[in-house]
Amino acid sequence: MSSHPVDPSDLTGLGKRYWLPVYRPRDVVLDHGKGARVWDTEGRDYLDLGAGIAVNSLGHQDPDLVAALVAQAHKLWHASNVFYTEPPLHLAQELVEHAPFAERVFLCNSGTEANEAAIKLVRKWAASQGRPPEERVIVTFRGSFHGRTLASVTATAQPKYQEGYEPLPGGFRYVDFNDVPALEAAFAQGGVAAVMLEPVQGEGGVMPAEPGFLKKVRELCDTHGALMVLDEIQCGMGRTGTLFAHAHDHVTPDIVTLAKALGAGFPIGAMLAGPKVAEVMQFGAHGTTFGGNPMAAAVALVALRKIASPAVLLNVERQANDIRAGLARINHEFHLFSEVRGRGLMIGAVLDTAYKGRAGDILDIAAAHGLLILQAGPDVLRIVPPLTITDEETAEGMQRLHDTLAEFVREAKVA
Ligand SMILES: Cc1ncc(COP(=O)(O)O)c(C=O)c1O
Repeated sequence: MSSHPVDPSDLTGLGKRYWLPVYRPRDVVLDHGKGARVWDTEGRDYLDLGAGIAVNSLGHQDPDLVAALVAQAHKLWHASNVFYTEPPLHLAQELVEHAPFAERVFLCNSGTEANEAAIKLVRKWAASQGRPPEERVIVTFRGSFHGRTLASVTATAQPKYQEGYEPLPGGFRYVDFNDVPALEAAFAQGGVAAVMLEPVQGEGGVMPAEPGFLKKVRELCDTHGALMVLDEIQCGMGRTGTLFAHAHDHVTPDIVTLAKALGAGFPIGAMLAGPKVAEVMQFGAHGTTFGGNPMAAAVALVALRKIASPAVLLNVERQANDIRAGLARINHEFHLFSEVRGRGLMIGAVLDTAYKGRAGDILDIAAAHGLLILQAGPDVLRIVPPLTITDEETAEGMQRLHDTLAEFVREAKVA
């Protein structure tokens, strides 16, 4: 890697030269957006079916979000938690009002931080019950993704995220997702303080919990005196068609973490705590300088109100049906997918054996066709558009996906 300065007009060159090389973005520099469409610095437009990894739930430049941000920017940017400011107070109240399971909220800045708070809360709760450290085990699931700090990456039961970061903190036990006997066996080993899971695994391949699995987790937690922690950072906030993903399963969790769509593009995270744990962390037990920042909270408050509205939630179902129908048509023509799975507007198209490992190649072709989609691992195309995507945007996105896959199949045949 050269240490020569890079011409500032070479934008992707700047990234390649100066960023820590932990990301590998496509050679596109996005400039602005409107609805489910974004434009790059060259003026090319893209249909955005990835929404900044399931974040821009209200699309780009939602006028109400822009107004909230601008209004707050003219008032007060930051005060930290040594004083109250108004937006995080209303946000906490409205989150709790929407969440029958929750009594209190801890606001932070990202999903990882929300999960870190949840992990600490589980341990503090177990400690408050007189359980020794070895009896504060958190069970998590293979294929999960919970974040990048040392504790949350240890909760993330995927070796590829952990390699080289040893020694990892102890106190986690892994089992296969949707495997009830394995979970029972993990409890039988003793010392379990909590089970933590995503109702729909995101990074792990868009894998929903099977019907009845969350109920079984709740039952086992109750039997063994453990907490149920749901990571709804990706699948929550309306993405599955209900404000909280676990609402489909009629379970009552003890802790739920949110981020991503909570700020609809402005960084914020939240941990919602139920009655068993809401009073466990007392003054000084946890904190963050920026958490509950008034700018982030002002945006999140408007985002929450809009996402929780019937208009947005019904649109999730409507567009999800259209996208699934479009994927079925595409598959009828090209025979690329072995399965289309997910819930609401969190959709995974699993590549057939012949195309295993090729999701990244498809994303490259998609970008050239003016389409932004994601992968969830090497074998799954992930579609997580804004929840407000319109009929026209969906239709155009599916047309571009069709053209992308037609080219991919042509190239695959030639190779
Ligand atoms: C389910 C889940 N949990 C946690 C995280 C981490 O969130 P963040 O990247 O905001 O730290 C992610 C991010 O992809 C996620 O999908």
